Amino acid sequence: MPTVDPGLVEQPSRDSVTRAEAILATTVDAVMVIDERGLIEVLNPAAERMFGYAAGEVIGRNINVLMPEPYRGEHDGYLANYLRTGQKKIIGIGREVVGRRKDGTVFPMDLAVSEARVGEHRSFVGIVRDVTERKQAEEALRESHRQLETALAALQTKGEEVKVMSQQLWQAAKLASVGELAASIAHELNNPLATVSLRMESLLAQTAADDPRRRLLEVVEQEVDRMADLVANLLQFSRRGQQRASSVNLGEDLVKTLELVQHHFRSRHIRVVQELASDVPVIQADRQLLRQVFLNLLTNAGDAMPEGGTLTLRSAPGFLGDGRPAVVIEFADTGLGIPRELLPRVMEPFFTTKEEGKGTGLGLAICRRAVQEHGGTIHITSELGKGTTVRIALPIGNDTNVDH
Ligand SMILES: Nc1ncnc2c1ncn2[C@@H]1O[C@H](COP(=O)(O)OP(=O)(O)OP(=O)(O)O)[C@@H](O)[C@H]1O
Ligand SMILES: [Mg+2]
Repeated sequence: MPTVDPGLVEQPSRDSVTRAEAILATTVDAVMVIDERGLIEVLNPAAERMFGYAAGEVIGRNINVLMPEPYRGEHDGYLANYLRTGQKKIIGIGREVVGRRKDGTVFPMDLAVSEARVGEHRSFVGIVRDVTERKQAEEALRESHRQLETALAALQTKGEEVKVMSQQLWQAAKLASVGELAASIAHELNNPLATVSLRMESLLAQTAADDPRRRLLEVVEQEVDRMADLVANLLQFSRRGQQRASSVNLGEDLVKTLELVQHHFRSRHIRVVQELASDVPVIQADRQLLRQVFLNLLTNAGDAMPEGGTLTLRSAPGFLGDGRPAVVIEFADTGLGIPRELLPRVMEPFFTTKEEGKGTGLGLAICRRAVQEHGGTIHITSELGKGTTVRIALPIGNDTNVDH
């Protein structure tokens, strides 16, 4: 049997070379072949298109012209390292690297490298795929992922806000319904209380002054009065938007209201000084509501001066904080004063320092609401042991909440 010269097998025929070239020419992927020194032997048309070089320009040149720095400087080292150690870093593995076109632009590419030996000749074949589009798609995907995460975070924040807001709304609704409940109970209590009060009066009238039961009846009457006060205050506090506007001369109404407590003041040695300007304009307001305000403030001042003192009432034209013209009224007493830490709380509903049964703590809350409904402001300054001044400013003109 004739033996086959192995040299013949390893030396490709002219035919097979042509066939290989034809295959390379039509391969869609870019193919490059280099020798052991890294010099380019083959660059197929797909690789020419990819890198922008004609094969003739780069054949015989180092493959590193197709790489940007730092790979360009390092490639010779990689190759030498492999030839010396046989340790494969890329051959048969493939990885994503960066290519450089003739015009200097760089692009990501997948590179698969294999080694081919033809006799003593060693070549390395690189097959390259431009993955710019894939990278862009990946980046777009990452970007939309990031956007999604941002949107999600924003949504979560909004969710929190909605939660807080609905809690606040719930709280407000609860308060409003408590107010309504209090008002309707107060309303229901009004009639029976009036009946009890009338019956008490007639019972007292029928009871002789020295009757031992009289003392008991008086106690009951006092308690009924207290209940009536509380009910009246609750009704006052929960009433809304039912004002009746008329032309009000505040100084006049202040003096009229003062008459109601004058007797009480005198017996307590409280001197009242009136500093009422004559040029105070008439305003459109709910007279009854404002008298209630005045009465509350006069009562507070009286209560604050158990040992007597001076209450100065002032009224004068002035301005609101925002510059609107107003009528300013002041109640300045020389009473006990309010501790600094309590001052911010005195206008809260049900805040009272008065002993059980003496105050409902609704007086100032009613004042504040009434003044605000008139588009005005109320301000309290106080010094412990020296006295308290309540200052009310009510706008002149029609921009109030009062129905005309
Ligand atoms: N002129 C004042 N001097 C000192 N403290 C005052 C004065 N006015 C109000 N206060 C304090 O503010 C608290 C609340 O006053 P507010 O008029 O709202 O309720 P009250 O007088 O306690 O009860 P109510 O008026 O319902 O009978 C009072 O209990 C008192 O401590
Ligand atoms: Mg009061």
